Amino acid sequence: MKKVDVLLGLQWGDEGKGKVVDVLTPNYDVVTRFQGGPNAGHTLVFEGQKYVLRSIPSGIFQGNTVNIIGNGVVLDPALFKEEVEALEASGHDLTKRLYISKKAHLILPTHRLLDAAYEAAKGKGKIGTTGKGIGPTYTDKTSRNGVRVGDILDNFDEKYKAAVDKHKAILKSLNFEYDLEPLEKKWFEGLEKLKQFQFIDSEHVINNYLKEDKPVLAEGAQGTMLDVDFGSYPFVTSSNTICAGACTGLGVAPRNINEVYGIFKAYCTRVGSGPFPTELHDETGELIRKLGFEFGAVTGRARRCGWVDLVALKYAIMINGVTKLIMMKSDVLDGFDTIKACVAYDINGKQTKELPFEMTDDIKPVYKEIKGWKTDMTKIKSEAEFPQAFKDYINFLEQELEVPIYIVSVGPDRDQTIVRK
Ligand code: GDP
Ligand code: IMO
Ligand code: MG
Repeated sequence: MKKVDVLLGLQWGDEGKGKVVDVLTPNYDVVTRFQGGPNAGHTLVFEGQKYVLRSIPSGIFQGNTVNIIGNGVVLDPALFKEEVEALEASGHDLTKRLYISKKAHLILPTHRLLDAAYEAAKGKGKIGTTGKGIGPTYTDKTSRNGVRVGDILDNFDEKYKAAVDKHKAILKSLNFEYDLEPLEKKWFEGLEKLKQFQFIDSEHVINNYLKEDKPVLAEGAQGTMLDVDFGSYPFVTSSNTICAGACTGLGVAPRNINEVYGIFKAYCTRVGSGPFPTELHDETGELIRKLGFEFGAVTGRARRCGWVDLVALKYAIMINGVTKLIMMKSDVLDGFDTIKACVAYDINGKQTKELPFEMTDDIKPVYKEIKGWKTDMTKIKSEAEFPQAFKDYINFLEQELEVPIYIVSVGPDRDQTIVRK
């Protein structure tokens, strides 16, 4: 009997999950997404090509690995169609390797309108969502008004109309103006595309794979600091991005989770509004954005940049039970004389290493300065080639975080990945 390995983000998303899932895929028979939806943008680079995945797991490019969109995911047929067609255009046939849980909830066109309406109503306090209808779809799921992929097979029109009518009433009460027709047209075209795929009882399928000793990798979306329970609420997404989310989002028992890969950037980024204690508002922040090409994979929005926050990382490691760390994008810092890591928070003159209830403006990061390695790391192929200053940095992080760093990524390409022994 195999167990599920989970790979998830420890910061505010965009850590590089897509790249590493792709790298690890040859070790797995199944790769599966367990939460989130097309708010995600997972970038993969190999053989000179770049791909961005939204709802499709990042195991789709390697060998015969089966890819499953799990029950915890919310799926927009219109965006799904675009994603599938882009992959088909580059020669990838997905219908025999991509399966969709009947219990995954559908993002309806009116969910996207509601997302926009709620954001507009929040005014200055807006979350800066991706505008993909994520919050309203999960709201309907928990308030028991959702429509699921399995519903497509039975009396769908009636269920669709009932949900959309409710949404129209809310949009009216918010005085939100909209034109639903073009959105609906695209959505129903997407629905036809979606029907070409097999809808499955994914909880049975995944547990059967485990019974047959077939390893499964669960791919997280977003990051721990965007988790609806443990993130910087209310500036979060609407799902459980943490390891526990893999249990509910796939139907896998907690005792059937094995490795928990926690992935982080050697610095930190965030898109949208909300607190970010180590954010840099100066030229160093600009430089990291430029060198790391920190712009949204899908929206193109500039990502806010700052130093790595070990207080938040330790919290994320605790919540997820991380067993192995993966450090991304250290190459972005290759040219820096010194880099900084936040080792504690100073809150009104008191130092703490524990994340407080809320991340407020009162938090002043306490930094440790680290000597830069001043080496082009992007061509390095093995750990033996690490410069001493980089080894020192890794040792420092491992001591602070108390979890081994298993993989170091030194560039966006599949090949620029160093697995440590
Ligand atoms: P995800 O959402 O966690 O999958 O991450 P994104 O794809 O949104 O953002 C990560 C970005 O960093 C993408 O543009 C990747 O191609 C790129 N990337 C991943 N790993 C590395 C790395 O080690 N170095 C550099 N320079 N870029 C990387
Ligand atoms: P990946 O999987 C970074 C952020 C949005 C916003 C908040 C809520 O690529 O790491 P939502 O649309 O989910 O209601 O937006 O969450 N957000 C992400 N930030 N990476 C992501 O996904 C994100 N998905 C959502 O910017 O602040
Ligand atoms: Mg992303």
